[in-house]
Amino acid sequence: MLSPPLSPRIRTNLLRWYDGNHRVLPWRAPELRGNAYAIWVSEIMLQQTRVAVVIPYFQRFLARFPDLASLARAPLSEVLRQWSGLGYYRRARQLHAGAQWLLAQAEGEFPRDFAAAMRVPGVGRYTAGAVLSMAYGLPLPAVDGNVRRVLQRLAGRALSPASLEKMAQSLVLPRRPGDFNQALMELGALICLPARPQCSVCPLRRHCRYQLGCGKTSAAMPRSAAVPVLKTLHAHYGLLRNRRRIWLTQRPASAGWMPELWELPEITADQCAAFGVRLRLRHAITRFRIDARVHPIRQLPQPGPGAWFLPAEAAALPLTGLTRKILRRLQFLKPG
Ligand code: ADE
Repeated sequence: MLSPPLSPRIRTNLLRWYDGNHRVLPWRAPELRGNAYAIWVSEIMLQQTRVAVVIPYFQRFLARFPDLASLARAPLSEVLRQWSGLGYYRRARQLHAGAQWLLAQAEGEFPRDFAAAMRVPGVGRYTAGAVLSMAYGLPLPAVDGNVRRVLQRLAGRALSPASLEKMAQSLVLPRRPGDFNQALMELGALICLPARPQCSVCPLRRHCRYQLGCGKTSAAMPRSAAVPVLKTLHAHYGLLRNRRRIWLTQRPASAGWMPELWELPEITADQCAAFGVRLRLRHAITRFRIDARVHPIRQLPQPGPGAWFLPAEAAALPLTGLTRKILRRLQFLKPG
């Protein structure tokens, strides 16, 4: 069924291209070769987040938590603080829980086989395949969104998750499985783009059913998913100062959205009508664009939980990304 796309030349062409064209990224540094912990951290950060955004977070995170034990022993609030601004905070909680579990159950070592890796809290098929192939050289597939698009285009049709895994498994090069998986990801990130694939410079063009049908309308060409329209939310925050301190409030543990992170007190559009706007900025998180306005207030419109913080104390809190941005713009916090 997939015989033309699955020529062995796919692997050699792809790896040759990867060797000459891959980006230099911190988690690919020679000193991290074989470091399953660092690769695990990078793979969790890279879920749903662009490479350029992840790079400085990854570097700071590894400087602060250089090994699995240091992460497991850190308080969650400190882990969330390091994650502040990266979004999808559930990933940080799961990484922390996974590290604690591994320290208790596996002497702090990331497992070396697939079934054991899948038992680590927060680790699914993709993460297990990525970490084990990249850190330990196990010939396992790792199908993320980029890889799915590349494989579907190679095959010229939409594939079920099981077929994608099978195809990736049959392609993965046992000699260099980690590089092979990253080569597929890199091709998806640099050449096999969702909207405008650069077929003319693709190392796999002679094996790709999508390229063979390029320019023609073909039912066999999987379309990329439509880019979701970002929904704009309007938010108003109160800026309450007391000499050098600022009032911050902690989101409840039960909040579905960034639980337990700290932020400026939110006020309603009606409540803020009496106050001027000190700052207005836009901030994008996940599927939302936030149009945020910050209003200087003299007291809270209604009593609520919170506390006064000096700049150095606020900087040490797990703040929401938007709050950190606002406090930096107000020069309450130093630029990061
Ligand atoms: N996305 C997911 N994993 C990646 C990796 N190792 N390199 C680049 N992009 C990625």
